Order: sequence, then structure tokens, then C-alpha cells
Amino acid sequence: MQLNGQKINLRYPTLDDADSIAKYCADKEISEFTFIPFPYTHQDAVDFITMCIEDRKSMTSLHCGIENCETKEIIGMIGLNSINKIHFRGELGYWLAKPFWGQGIMLDAINILTSFCLNEMQLERIYAHVQPDNIGSWKVLEKAGFEREGLLRNHFCVGGTMHDHYLYAKLKD
Ligand SMILES: CC(C)(COP(=O)(O)OP(=O)(O)OC[C@H]1O[C@@H](n2cnc3c(N)ncnc32)[C@H](O)[C@@H]1OP(=O)(O)O)[C@@H](O)C(=O)NCCC(=O)NCCS
Repeated sequence: MQLNGQKINLRYPTLDDADSIAKYCADKEISEFTFIPFPYTHQDAVDFITMCIEDRKSMTSLHCGIENCETKEIIGMIGLNSINKIHFRGELGYWLAKPFWGQGIMLDAINILTSFCLNEMQLERIYAHVQPDNIGSWKVLEKAGFEREGLLRNHFCVGGTMHDHYLYAKLKD
């Protein structure tokens, strides 16, 4: 599968992408608001891509690499986790390498993937959890047409500390 945007394409990652994923994930700012470990090793990238390939077979998750159109390098990931075919919903997650922030790339990636999931995969609801202080992330969601549905208090435990999360969603209609 390949979904084409202006500056980026979305495509499945392969083990050949382990170098670029390992390079860009070795950044504390990527791990700050995600469950991506820090420090991040080449083996972490290999394990992650292997998991993406397995999940694709079972269609429990759909993980897409964000490919730079010019260099063909993977510069981030976007995916739908916990795909529920009974209730027609899935959870959106994403990260983008720091050198590419602030260029509208994640907005493009979210629009492409949500359109595919709502129109081609026949899902009815795409939702996302975002920490209130991850302003860039919830601003991008709002620009992509997601609505804030509420605040989930003490929803995630990270390093022994409980964190609130906004719940955002976009519906087919
Ligand atoms: C959050 C993240 C995905 C944003 O990606 P991005 O490609 O830089 O975002 P975009 O350039 O598409 O931004 C779209 C809009 O969001 C807003 N925005 C983005 N980053 C922002 C920030 N740090 N502060 C305030 N607004 C921000 C801008 O208003 C922009 O709108 P504009 O075009 O009117 O300026 C990126 O910073 C990232 O990967 N962070 C680390 C991982 C992470 O937090 N993942 C999400 C976990 S929930």
C-alpha cells in the first residue's frame, strides 16, 4: 500500500528502514510524549518493524512510515492501533523526526491516513489520546478536523506518574 501526499507518502516500513527509524527516534523529544523508549537502539527499530509486519497480517494495527518524497527516507510513523472491526474504530498515533517539524507534514499525514481509514476501511471513528501540554499534537489534530471530547484524568502511568489525557476523535459523518 502507498498513499501519496505532496511532500510525503505513507507506505509500510520494511527492515531496510531500521537505520532511519533508529536515527530519528534517538531523540528525547520524540519519547517525551510517546511510549517510544529512550535511549533508542537499532535493535529497537528492528523489533518495531517486525511487530508492524506481524500486526499487518492480523489487521489489528496499521503502521505506516512517513516517507520523504525526495529522499525516500522514513522520517516518521503514523498508524492506527487497536483496530476494532466490530465497533468500526481505531486509535491514531504518530511521531515525526525533529528536523521536519513545523512544515505541515503531520497535518498532511493525518489527513491522508484518516481519509483512508474512514473511506476505504469503512471505519466510523478515529480517536487519539494527547497530553494537554503536548500543544503541537492537539493543535494538529484540531486542524485535521478532530474534536476534543473530554479530559481523561489519570489515564496513563508513565515512570510511576499518572497523566491526564485529552480524548480527541473524528467521525465519518
Ligand atoms: C506533534 C507533532 C506530530 C507535530 O508535527 P508537525 O509536522 O510539526 O505539525 P504541523 O507542522 O503539521 O503543524 C500543524 C499545525 O499544528 C500547530 N503546531 C504544530 N506544532 C506546534 C507547537 N509545538 N506549538 C503550537 N502549535 C503547533 C501549528 O499551529 C500548525 O498550524 P499552522 O500551519 O497554522 O502553523 C511533532 O511535533 C512530533 O512528532 N512530536 C513528537 C511526538 C509526539 O508528540 N507525537 C504525538 C503523541 S500524542
